[in-house]
Parts: sequence; structure tokens; C-alpha cells
Amino acid sequence: MALIKWTEKLSVNIDSIDEQHKVLINMINEFYEKINEKSNNELISNLITKMKDYTLLHFSMEEKLFKQYNYADFEQHKKQHDGFVKKVSDLEGRFKKGEIILSFEITRFLKDWLMDHIQGTDKKYTKFFIEKGIT
Ligand SMILES: [Fe+2]
Ligand SMILES: [Fe+2]
Repeated sequence: MALIKWTEKLSVNIDSIDEQHKVLINMINEFYEKINEKSNNELISNLITKMKDYTLLHFSMEEKLFKQYNYADFEQHKKQHDGFVKKVSDLEGRFKKGEIILSFEITRFLKDWLMDHIQGTDKKYTKFFIEKGIT
């Protein structure tokens, strides 16, 4: 069973952004499955890198829109993005060096962070972006 199920409560009401969030959710679900299956380390390591890269791409897309439209909450929002990227990069590095074993706790952190961020922080831009005509 998937760890995260996308439902309307995760929607920011902007289709292009919802699609990216769905990709991220699928990646966390895949990561969870691989850990459960005790899949090989190289596969998991590649998956973390893929997840980090996609996260960076998604964050930079949101931040580009913030800058372009002078979104007031830009700094605060970016701080959250940066904190998460740092955490995921740290996990990636430590796992590759064999310092940590990936666990359900780590998966849970990724899940909780993303759900909280979408619902608590991303959703704040919905009204602003819709007014700017972003779909
Ligand atoms: Fe987002
Ligand atoms: Fe965000």
C-alpha cells in the first residue's frame, strides 16, 4: 500500500503545481516500497538522488514564480525549501558513505515534511497565483 495517497486536501488548486507535487509523492512512495522490500543500496541511493533533483527542480520553479510576481512571503518560503534540500542532501551523503541505514523514520520525515509544507505553506500562494493567472 502506498504511504501517501494524493487527495484534494493536498491540492493547491493550480494544476501545473499539483502535477509536480504528485510526482514528489510518487517518489516518496517508491522510496518507502524499496525500503520495505530491503532493496539493494545502489537502487535506493539512485532513488534519493532522483528525489533530490526533482525536489530542486520543483522548488526552483515555485521560487521563479515568487520572484517574477513579487510574492511577499518569498524569503520565508525559500527558507523552508533550503532547509529541506539541506536535510535530503545530508541523508544522501550519509547513506552513500554507509553511515546510516534508511529507515521508516526517515521516510516518515519526508512524508510529514512534504504534507505539512504543501498544506501549510504552498497553499498560502493559491489565491495570489490564481489572481496572477497561473494555472
Ligand atoms: Fe511545492
Ligand atoms: Fe514550496
